Amino acid sequence: MNGRRRFLRYLAGSPFLALAQDKPISDPAEALNVFDFHEVAKAVLPRAHYGYMATGVDDDRTLHANSEAFQKYQLRVRRLIDVKKVDTSITLMGSRWETPIFLCPVGSQRAFHADGEIAVAKAARAKGHLQILSTTTTSSVEEVSEARGAPIWYQLYPTEDWTITRSLLKRAETAGCPVVALTVDLYGGSNRETIARFRKLDDRDCNVCHEPNGGYAGYIRGKPMFQGLDISGAKSNSPADLTWDFVHRLKDATSMKLFVKGIVTGEDAALALEHGVDGIVVSNHGGRAEESGRSTIECLPEVANAAGGRIPVLIDGGFRRGTDVFKALALGADAVGIGRPYLWGLAAFGQAGVEAVLAILRRELEMVMRQAGTTTVGQIGREYVVDIRE
Ligand SMILES: Cc1cc2nc3c(=O)[nH]c(=O)nc-3n(C[C@H](O)[C@H](O)[C@H](O)COP(=O)(O)O)c2cc1C
Repeated sequence: MNGRRRFLRYLAGSPFLALAQDKPISDPAEALNVFDFHEVAKAVLPRAHYGYMATGVDDDRTLHANSEAFQKYQLRVRRLIDVKKVDTSITLMGSRWETPIFLCPVGSQRAFHADGEIAVAKAARAKGHLQILSTTTTSSVEEVSEARGAPIWYQLYPTEDWTITRSLLKRAETAGCPVVALTVDLYGGSNRETIARFRKLDDRDCNVCHEPNGGYAGYIRGKPMFQGLDISGAKSNSPADLTWDFVHRLKDATSMKLFVKGIVTGEDAALALEHGVDGIVVSNHGGRAEESGRSTIECLPEVANAAGGRIPVLIDGGFRRGTDVFKALALGADAVGIGRPYLWGLAAFGQAGVEAVLAILRRELEMVMRQAGTTTVGQIGREYVVDIRE
């Protein structure tokens, strides 16, 4: 046996290597980064529910592109600046938040932990984050608002039936939501193969909780936001004939400010402004809409440019590190959303897991702010990043 092979064999059997290998954590405090929660979530969740969380569309290329594209941007850091005090807070739509990191709307959170959206609201409260609640939440907007102890934002999926949409809007408004975010990225449908594969691995009887062949109405029948409504006319969460006219209809029907979630081009950002939208979320639904192959961080500059500072531009998709958040702020985002990372925390340890994920991301953001010589979010401008392709 030659020396190299002998060394590799020694390494493979070495207890030191075993120690360094990933083992799922058993306490949130053990986590080094948000990925440690993913390992636990993957281990504890039923296969079908894990698949729901993890899936992208087609070959999951856009899902991966979201995270990988951060490598196309490098940081230009400055030295010899007093960074003893770093302030991560932002003001958005008249409210102050501890950090620019917000919790994206995610449906059916009780599929990940028994306390679902309530645990997330309590974590958001403890750590001072904005939470956006999904239309397909498994806790009502009233309960979640109470657990959050401050206004949350509401995400809207319209259906074919305007009466249902109007009722959802009124309910969110009455619960004190100042903003409604209309999701506009699923109108073409979405081909989610990863969830289909994970479903096949699940040997539980899904029909115990899910209505078989019930279509969208079957899916929402048990959901709190649809209780007491006639949902027979609800065929989907994204009617294919929705246009900017619908945006006007929404604006006329509610006193909440209107954000549009799912914008990825400068053209649509300009149209959003023209149609009186109050804010944009650059999003491709975490790679769960179309397989464009295009990451949201790469879409951000053209959207931010078109918005020109006139309305807030939020972004989500693939954010896993404080440096990712920093890059988006530098490229023109006002706030940055996370989806799966807090779901990993939720699935792994409930509220404590979500809190830990938020704390890690904040700590990482504070560190990169110090390293770059920026002490406030407002200071993080375009000059702090390089697009390596330029
Ligand atoms: C399991 C899951 C459910 C989601 N449900 C919704 C939803 O109900 N409404 C919505 O607008 N977006 C939904 N999204 C998209 C998120 O709001 C967000 O855009 C995305 O998760 C961000 O990407 P990330 O997961 O890589 O952080 C969902 C995402 C996931 C992973």
